[in-house]
Amino acid sequence: MAAMQTTPEALDVTQTGVGIAGTGNVAQALGALLGKAGVPVRAIAGRDRARTERAAAFTGAERVCAIPELGRCASVLLVAVTDDALGEVAGELAAGERTPQVVLHTCGSRGPEVLAPLAERGCATGVLHPLQTIPSAERGVASIPGCRCAYCGDALAADCARQLISHAGAIPLALAAGQWALYHAAAVLSINFQVALLDASLELWESAGISRQEGLAAFAPIVRASVENVLEHGPEVALTGPIRRGDATTVERHLGAIAAAPEEIRALYVAGARRTLSLARRAGLPEGAARRVRRAIETAGSQPEGRGA
Ligand SMILES: NC(=O)c1ccc[n+]([C@@H]2O[C@H](COP(=O)([O-])OP(=O)(O)OC[C@H]3O[C@@H](n4cnc5c(N)ncnc54)[C@H](OP(=O)(O)O)[C@@H]3O)[C@@H](O)[C@H]2O)c1
Repeated sequence: MAAMQTTPEALDVTQTGVGIAGTGNVAQALGALLGKAGVPVRAIAGRDRARTERAAAFTGAERVCAIPELGRCASVLLVAVTDDALGEVAGELAAGERTPQVVLHTCGSRGPEVLAPLAERGCATGVLHPLQTIPSAERGVASIPGCRCAYCGDALAADCARQLISHAGAIPLALAAGQWALYHAAAVLSINFQVALLDASLELWESAGISRQEGLAAFAPIVRASVENVLEHGPEVALTGPIRRGDATTVERHLGAIAAAPEEIRALYVAGARRTLSLARRAGLPEGAARRVRRAIETAGSQPEGRGA
C-alpha cells in the first residue's frame, strides 16, 4: 500500500512572524509593509552590521543577526538577496543550527530549486516575487500594495506566500515552479525593454536636432496615453500607426531614414515591425496590405549594414 501523504499543518504568519535575509530595497520594503500589517519581523540578517541595523530600524525588526542564525529567530524566512547570492545564502541557512520550516526567495527568474540545500533539510521552499520595480525601500512601500506578486512552492510554502502577499497589500499570482525564467523574460520585455526602446527613440531624435530633455517632455503624454490604452483596452485595440494602417511606403521611408543609425537600433525597428505586423493582422489588417508591409520590412531587414530600404 502506498504511504499515506500527510498535509503539513498550515502556519499563521501573524503568529510565526518572518525572518528576512538581506538588507536591500526588497527586504526593507516587504519587511516594513509586513510589520505594519501585523506580521512581526522577528529578525533581519545581513553581511554588514551597520546596514543591517539601518534595515532593522526601517522595518521595525525585533533584532538583527547573521544569516546562519536566522533559522533560530523565525520559522518562516524571506530571502531577498542579489540573484547570484541565492545559492550561497541557501547553503548558509541550511548549515545553521536550526532549520526554518518555510523559506521563500524573492528573485523572479529562479524557481525554488535554488533553495535545494534547505529543501534537503526538510524545509518547504518557494518563491514570492513582487512584480514591481523597487528602486528604493520607500518606493517599494508605496508601490507594492496593489501590485501582483507571483509565487509558487510546496503546499506549506505556497500557503505562507499567499498570506504574506495579502498582508503586504499585494495580489497573489500563482506560477508553476518550472516557469520562472519564462515569466521573468516576459516581464523584462515589457518593462526594461520599454525603457530601452524609449532611449533608442531619444537617440534618433537627437540626430534630428531634438535634445533628450525636450524629447522626454514630448514623449511623456503620448507614451502615457499609449500605455494606458493598451492596459485598458488590450493590444489589438490600442495599436495605431503606419503598420496598423498597412502603410508600406511609410515603413520604407522609416527604414531609409534610419539606415545610418546604429545597427542595434535598426535591428530593434525591424524586430518591432515584425511583431507589430502580426499584431496588426490580429487587429484586422487585410492580408494584401500586410504582404506589402512585410515586403518593405524584409527588403530593408536583409540589406547590409548602413544601407536601408
Ligand atoms: N528591486 C526590484 O525592482 C526587485 C523587484 C522584485 C524582485 N527583486 C528581487 O529581489 C532580490 C533583492 O533585490 P533588491 O533590489 O532588494 O537588491 P539590493 O537592494 O541590491 O539588495 C541586495 C541585498 O543582497 C545582499 N547580498 C548580496 N550578496 C550577498 C551575499 N553573498 N550574501 C549575503 N547577502 C548578499 C546585499 O547585502 P550587502 O548590503 O551586504 O551587499 C543586499 O542586502 C533580487 O533577487 C531581485 O531580483 C527585485
